[in-house]
Amino acid sequence: MRIMVTGAKGMLGQDLVPILRDQGHDVIPLGRQELDITDRKAVFEAIEHFHPQIVINCAAYTNVDQAEVERDLAYAINALGVQNLALACEDKKCELVQISTDYVFDGTKKTPYRPLDPPNPINWYGYTKLAGEKFVEWHCSRFYIVRTSWLYGKYGKNFVTTILKLAREKECLEVVDDQIGSPTHTKSLSRAIADLIQTGWYGIHHYTDDAGNGISWYEFAQAILQLAEISKKVEPIKTLQLSRPAPRPSYSTLFLTMPAPLWQEELAKFMKA
Ligand SMILES: NC(=O)c1ccc[n+]([C@@H]2O[C@H](COP(=O)([O-])OP(=O)(O)OC[C@H]3O[C@@H](n4cnc5c(N)ncnc54)[C@H](OP(=O)(O)O)[C@@H]3O)[C@@H](O)[C@H]2O)c1
Repeated sequence: MRIMVTGAKGMLGQDLVPILRDQGHDVIPLGRQELDITDRKAVFEAIEHFHPQIVINCAAYTNVDQAEVERDLAYAINALGVQNLALACEDKKCELVQISTDYVFDGTKKTPYRPLDPPNPINWYGYTKLAGEKFVEWHCSRFYIVRTSWLYGKYGKNFVTTILKLAREKECLEVVDDQIGSPTHTKSLSRAIADLIQTGWYGIHHYTDDAGNGISWYEFAQAILQLAEISKKVEPIKTLQLSRPAPRPSYSTLFLTMPAPLWQEELAKFMKA
């Protein structure tokens, strides 16, 4: 298939493009320089020019805390940019894959969130991502929304790389143990997306590397250090002690709609590489 990937220079985009190519797809990767999704005219022109069968949108404003400050910019990219893609895809009869987030939920549930559970974002990033989902649902007749969580990969700053960096710099690490969610390797998410686009199972999907009930960031940090064979003390702390600008859901584990590997195995593969 001919697939246009937007936000192709981001952490997910850079893992996704080679995986799609390995599967024989004709991939057009467009970074922000090549296509700014907030430019409606440029979005329509790109789809007209490349005439893809599918657009996979990996472009997003992803700084959760900064989104509280740069509200208009976050909304312009995560909501209006996605609306541009949705309108252009529908106009050109092409499918749209939109990547979304566990942060559309408020975290008050105690069991994994299902795709049709009511979203209720508690931070601005989550609100803008939910708005993006809505535009896709309103404008597109053939779409996949893939919600995921706690991404880490080779091509971006993420929790795994941060913990390894802090372990080198500090005597003791402090990590919150009152936020429960699921880690996801960008490579395994990419494989799941590549499988999904073959199915025609349109609608909202949930994919992470964890088909269980979630883990805390504290547990995740411990697993990272164990695999890296670094013996550093990790102290569990509470979210309130961090006083970050954006509130986070205390529980955001997703009920998966696709088969997933074990997060421990994916993390081990990532650390080995
Ligand atoms: N990271 C996570 O933990 C996480 C969790 C759940 C869901 N997600 C979702 O997963 C997707 C991929 O995230 P990621 O971690 O790969 O994010 P990322 O590394 O921040 O990549 C996002 C990419 O989008 C680009 N971008 C920003 N504004 C753009 C615009 N107006 N037009 C075109 N490109 C633009 C960025 O370019 P610049 O670098 O030049 O700004 C960046 O290359 C996003 O939809 C995100 O919301 C992420």
